[in-house]
Amino acid sequence: MKDKIMEIIEKNKGLVREGFVADYIPALSKANPNNIGVSIVDLNGNIYNVGDYNEKFTIQSISKVLSLILALLDHGEEKVFNKVGYEPTDEPFNTIYKLDFNWNKPSNPMINSGAIVTTSLIKGNGDEKINRILDLIKVMTGNPNVSIDEEVYLSEKETGNRNRAMAYLLKSKGILSGDVEEILDTYFKQCSIQVTSFDLAKIGLFIAKGCPLETKGLIDNARIAAIVTAIMFTSGMYNFSGEYAVNVGIPSKSGVGGGILGVVPGNYGIGIYGPALDRYGNSSVGYGIIRDLSQHLKLNILSR
Ligand code: DON
Repeated sequence: MKDKIMEIIEKNKGLVREGFVADYIPALSKANPNNIGVSIVDLNGNIYNVGDYNEKFTIQSISKVLSLILALLDHGEEKVFNKVGYEPTDEPFNTIYKLDFNWNKPSNPMINSGAIVTTSLIKGNGDEKINRILDLIKVMTGNPNVSIDEEVYLSEKETGNRNRAMAYLLKSKGILSGDVEEILDTYFKQCSIQVTSFDLAKIGLFIAKGCPLETKGLIDNARIAAIVTAIMFTSGMYNFSGEYAVNVGIPSKSGVGGGILGVVPGNYGIGIYGPALDRYGNSSVGYGIIRDLSQHLKLNILSR
């Protein structure tokens, strides 16, 4: 298996040159575009870690999966999807303009505006929200050292005016309640949590197992896992989610730090790292690798 993963990395590594490391958050531009990490874990406890799987990077938009899980635990489906939609969008992750139409709430919880809403719904005051997100990652990964990259957090906070604009617009429409700056602060911090591809694979396996959380929320854990996996499948790769579903067929979530989280229900968790991004903000090499892994391991959830 490891040899096959190495072969797939070798085959796809040229894709690094087709992407660009994100620099709209200045601290992200320091990443080495040539790093490639691949981790796969399965239900039987097998672990396959290849390449730069120890390299830390910020989780970025993959944290939107975690804030959706916590919002669902705290409020149940009806209340959450009253404030954020279920539907994919052909707009990019940082789209804002449709929020200004009277009737609109954010299309889905995977774009920035939708994630700002789910973050606002996490119960807790001050640092409690971010600590709950960190605790959830610690439970999912078994890694007690997960922490925030302060430099990236400050860089996001300083340059995140587009997110700020969205949040204030959502507040003016009554979709966001609570202190806007406090919600944004949690959002910037959750995006700046440091992980490795191995951490992502373990998060993926946890969801693939049906989110076996000890804490009881308002809805069943298995239902949470099913909702989150469905939304990842339809919206996790933004306005590339359709083509990705056709070619990869694995519910996934990307982040501009270069990570891809993959969930193969009942079977595997996948974590990939490659910080050069394509024009959708998804890892360019990560896409090539997970596409080949899906073919080789027959992971496409819709293929027979
Ligand atoms: O808010 C932002 O723009 C970033 N913190 C996260 C965006 C992101 O990861 C989009 N993903 N590919």
